[in-house]
Amino acid sequence: MKNKSMILNLVLIHILTLNIWSAWAQTEGGTMPQIVEKDGRHALLVDGQPFFMLGGQAHNSSGWPGMMPQVWSAIETMHANTLEVPIYWEQIEAQPGKFDFSLVDTLLKQGREHKVHLVLLWFATWKNGSSHYMPEWMKREPSNYPNITGRNGQPVDSPSPHTQAAMEADAKAFAAVMNHLKEADPQHTVLMVQVENEPGAWGSVRDYSATAQKLFKGQVPAELLKPEILKALNKPVVAKGTWQEVFGNDADEYFHAWSVARYIGYVAAAGKAVNQLPLYVNAALRDPMSNPSATTYESGGATDNVIPIWKAAAPAIDLLAPDIYLSDSERALKVIELYNRPDNPLFVPEIGSNDEFTRYFYPVLAHGGIGFSPFGIDDNGQGRGKTETEARLASIAQEYIMAGPMMRELAKWSFEGKIKSVVEREDHAEQTIDLGSWRAIVKFGASTWRTEQPNPRPIGKAMIVQLGENEFVLIGTLCHFTFKLVGVNAGKAWQYLKVEEGKYENGIFKLLRIRNGDETDWGGPRIGAVPTVLHTSLIMR
Ligand code: DGJ
Repeated sequence: MKNKSMILNLVLIHILTLNIWSAWAQTEGGTMPQIVEKDGRHALLVDGQPFFMLGGQAHNSSGWPGMMPQVWSAIETMHANTLEVPIYWEQIEAQPGKFDFSLVDTLLKQGREHKVHLVLLWFATWKNGSSHYMPEWMKREPSNYPNITGRNGQPVDSPSPHTQAAMEADAKAFAAVMNHLKEADPQHTVLMVQVENEPGAWGSVRDYSATAQKLFKGQVPAELLKPEILKALNKPVVAKGTWQEVFGNDADEYFHAWSVARYIGYVAAAGKAVNQLPLYVNAALRDPMSNPSATTYESGGATDNVIPIWKAAAPAIDLLAPDIYLSDSERALKVIELYNRPDNPLFVPEIGSNDEFTRYFYPVLAHGGIGFSPFGIDDNGQGRGKTETEARLASIAQEYIMAGPMMRELAKWSFEGKIKSVVEREDHAEQTIDLGSWRAIVKFGASTWRTEQPNPRPIGKAMIVQLGENEFVLIGTLCHFTFKLVGVNAGKAWQYLKVEEGKYENGIFKLLRIRNGDETDWGGPRIGAVPTVLHTSLIMR
């Protein structure tokens, strides 16, 4: 058994050293970031190898040069490898047809100086369901660029997805941005681009204007009538029909989702035609457990129930991404599950930034995610200042300090489906992880060989990478691992062969110490508040 584990170790080291992966290897004409799929799992390839975005998102109005020092300070505090930062249609095309990319160029230059990748957020027709980032010249012409109308004729602060002129203008501007990136960023500082921001409508399930009513009374487009789409939407398979006939009670929401997704799909396709960078759309979520009415959330956005509609309407969008602000574990974990689909790579472009949200970093890795990015990382002058901001970011910073040097290994293991995770739930109960012949039992709290201190809030977490039958990498915070044999060997004696604490550097595990005695006896290794990596082998006696 020992030999097998040694051979696996050597093979791993060999594979990793063959690929001396650098997190920052941007060269002129580098390879295009690309999302790949294998056996239903995904990876974002950067410089040809799986890459995990250890991200942070700047506040909405922070993409201006004078605001960027605070943003970079936050990125440094976090040890992030990727910054998500907005770019603004109102600034880029302040005059119709005249494009100013000076802010984009500043971001590119500063990203390179800080050796940090960028994800650019195209704040354009939709920003949180409204159109507040449309250029002034469009805002001044509401009859040419109208908002939607509510069911009772009331005005709704959300752009109409049925305005050809707005869609063409957005597509033209977005294509210009993507073309500029093609020319100004051959080294691919930018990994992905978000098209719009949380599109959809608050305050009305759909548009009830005369134009919309006419479309709504028409036939459902053939693209949506494919049997696999209707089945995925739990609707009877039919060959034709109006929105009401085909979708019944869901017709209003589905019509809006189709209309918004079709518009954004058009904008995205215009960009993709000039530059093949991965594109995504982020979603304001609905309660994933209760199938609530669309009047209670942002209708038309890429909520979990309409993912098949978005996929059919916007094929140029590579993925639909959940913005996670639901902190309770049942809901947050459900969302992670729902957006990790064979046809949808998991990426969390926004999530709360305190320690209760940090626990979801592990399940995102365990579900083959390609990135994780707490929102609102910079001190933008509206909070309690830099000290408070840094305290809020402390837990994710600790995770990124641990994960940064082994990011390429984590991304590869994640792509290969080798990672499993648990988070501390609100009831603080122990959790189990099944690992073939072994079962890990994870308890939460700060404990030593003689004391057990429960966590005051649910912030503990653990992940296990299975490298071989008896060989694991244990990572966690505020948790305690124990193991038992299951299956045919259940009840047999076993012991820790070796528990090595250390870190991966350039693909090689560097030993800090072998944990034994009090640090492993008394029921197995414990980890405190600082994320720790334990390369662990077990043996049956
Ligand atoms: C979600 C949005 O996508 C962000 O741009 C920001 O507005 C946050 N909400 C603020 O809570």
